[in-house]
Amino acid sequence: MSDVTLEKPYTLTAPREMVSALLTHLRNGTTDQCADVMHLEPAIFTDPEIARRERAGVFGQVPFIAAHRSELPKPHDFITKRLPRNEAIIIRLGDGSVRTFVNMCRHRGATLVAEESGHCRVFSCAYHGWSYDLEGSLRNLTYADSFGDVDVAKLGLVQLPCEERHGFIWVVDDPDATIDVAAHLGPEHDGFLASYGIEGLECYEHGVFDEPTNWKIMHDAFLDGYHIKFAHPNSAGKLIHTNTYVVEDYGSHARFISPRKSLDAWLERDPEAGESMVEHVMLTHFIGPNTTLLQLPDNFQVLNFYPISDDPGRSRMEMRLLVPPRERTGLDEEAWRKKWDKNWYILQTVLAGEDFPILRGIQQAYGSAAKSPTILGRNELLNQAFHREVAKLRDSVS
Ligand code: FES
Ligand SMILES: [Fe+2]
Repeated sequence: MSDVTLEKPYTLTAPREMVSALLTHLRNGTTDQCADVMHLEPAIFTDPEIARRERAGVFGQVPFIAAHRSELPKPHDFITKRLPRNEAIIIRLGDGSVRTFVNMCRHRGATLVAEESGHCRVFSCAYHGWSYDLEGSLRNLTYADSFGDVDVAKLGLVQLPCEERHGFIWVVDDPDATIDVAAHLGPEHDGFLASYGIEGLECYEHGVFDEPTNWKIMHDAFLDGYHIKFAHPNSAGKLIHTNTYVVEDYGSHARFISPRKSLDAWLERDPEAGESMVEHVMLTHFIGPNTTLLQLPDNFQVLNFYPISDDPGRSRMEMRLLVPPRERTGLDEEAWRKKWDKNWYILQTVLAGEDFPILRGIQQAYGSAAKSPTILGRNELLNQAFHREVAKLRDSVS
């Protein structure tokens, strides 16, 4: 089927100044660059001690995206998931707010909720029947008379800091941490995310990929406009220019824009005022520490990367396709599904077939004897920004 024009109100626009700067690069055969080449020791991808500090310093200190709000839309909906440091339950309370708990019974540590998602009013442990309300308080200690003297008020579920903002559920994976997503995002990214209306989209597909590759090697591939035509000659390489981008680096976050080949039509003239260029560029945000958010003309793709164990050579990537609800598109159910199913199929084929094998090879090489440092060029400035931020967080803990 042909592509569909969305009905109002869901429209996205490309930032005009970035498009102009991109056209200048295309005309001159140039790209944005940073000051210097960066070298990275392979140990940051393979050393268990560095990985431990990274889990604490990165995921135990700053908020990261754990879910989209549409994954638990109604009161008492929950999901469970593996976070970098804890198994977690994310639950929507009766008042619409969201809590995150460590998925562990306070008696002897049994997993409290086994299902991946569901709807409930009480958490009951399958082992000895202790039960907790949705606010995490221990409500029933079974056979309490014979159990002995414990302070029930102190045996609530362990809570992780959690906040819903801009349609995402953000978590810091340390019970002693605090959370302030707006402060973490900074005014620019808080504003960008607020302007996208992501809270009104729905998660059409959610893919989870466990790979034998360090999470930073995985994420690097999605902050990289330098590999497109080489690794993806018959897919993305046909549509997007390689090694041409404009980057705005905001410190912990960045946004960048790359030209689709259709932007070549503007090589001889600048876009008119009011001309929507969103279909001719790829706008991407790096939201530190571990998210790539891709803006397409009528949808967003969110990619998250994180370690899932103490093995630095293993990680998980989550991919979400966030789309406007069918009622906002003017499409019938079949056409709507067909459009996103096709989109999802292409995404998965490119990632699993073209990127992942290359990335697994890097992990293997860095686990072998004759490894040499990764070199990030001046043109690989997004990757440099990502590694700079992770190193800063990792080095802030002992
Ligand atoms: S471990 Fe949960 S009730 Fe015993
Ligand atoms: Fe790629």
